[in-house]
Amino acid sequence: MAPSVSQLETVTSESVEKVAHDVSKLNVKATNVEVKVEDKVDAPSYPFYYPYYDLEEKFPPTEIFEFVEPGTRANPAKPNLLTENVKLNHLSPYLGTEVTGVQISQLNKEGLDELALLAAERKVLLFRDQDFKDIGPDRQIEIARHFGPIQKHPTSGNVKGYPEFHVVYRDTKHNRFQEYYGGNRINLTSWHSDVSYEKQTPGTTFFFILDQPETGGDTLFLSQVEAYNRLSPEFKKRLEGLRALHSAVPQAEFSKRLNGPVRREPIETEHPLVRVHPATGEKALYINQGFTKSIVGFKQEESEYLLKFLFDHLAKGADFQIRGNYKPGTVVVWDNRVTAHSATPDFSPTFRRHAVRLTPQAEVPIPATA
Ligand SMILES: [Fe+2]
Repeated sequence: MAPSVSQLETVTSESVEKVAHDVSKLNVKATNVEVKVEDKVDAPSYPFYYPYYDLEEKFPPTEIFEFVEPGTRANPAKPNLLTENVKLNHLSPYLGTEVTGVQISQLNKEGLDELALLAAERKVLLFRDQDFKDIGPDRQIEIARHFGPIQKHPTSGNVKGYPEFHVVYRDTKHNRFQEYYGGNRINLTSWHSDVSYEKQTPGTTFFFILDQPETGGDTLFLSQVEAYNRLSPEFKKRLEGLRALHSAVPQAEFSKRLNGPVRREPIETEHPLVRVHPATGEKALYINQGFTKSIVGFKQEESEYLLKFLFDHLAKGADFQIRGNYKPGTVVVWDNRVTAHSATPDFSPTFRRHAVRLTPQAEVPIPATA
């Protein structure tokens, strides 16, 4: 199946049972700070971005476009981005850096190019204390467009008049994807790279938080570059040159079952199993459990065998994973070409989680050669 972060929204029987308990805790809190429960539950802080579904909304097939990776233009020293006020806190040697002391909204074009390069190098950037959520939709889209044409999601909630926004939303009243995993899983981890079925897959991707639970709702990330690097030279040689099929069909079928939109006919695309990042030259495994369905040219059992090994390798690699958390004003920027991620829907739906993704598309994946 093909989850995006927004689709990892599940109400388990346990979480439903917790609602009464959590509401009672909110009531206690409300007494202390004079905030009503209704205020917490019923009012998104940013109602403009409430998920919007128009069953009549349709998009044409995506066409191939010219693309130059902004990170290839960047000064490697990044003088426009990494000014003297900026502090970097690396979360792992392989990926993940917390960035403070700079506003994305204030960067010039050269600074945005440098941001693309830093995101490619560090895979995931957590920008803190950003004004990004308050600069308005047109400016948000303008900034994201610097990194490529923005994908318009075929099935998820968007914003009326702004199909570029992919809205992630969950509360007690809106939990559209509660049936997504059903109640028969022992955990809700679901690694994926966003919409990898696109012919030109997402690159530098923006995700900004509007409302969040007090605890929980983090995003897990892994480095597909380090996952590749861990393999033996002989195994790498076997993988390079292979192609895998990425499918949008399960996602579209799921939306249909919920009477949701299918704005564009679902596609299936073959991508190289190992791709090269145009700015860093790094090789990355490009498969993900959410969208990758088979290895091209392999018989069924061979394909399942190899994909199971690779998916297990990614999922078990805690030594090349991070857990990204959110604070008010956090904007996470990740490079979808060299990472996979999973939501952690571990919080009660009593708490609203509301976030928005802008997903610029990048180059047709560049195959690695042995
Ligand atoms: Fe996602």
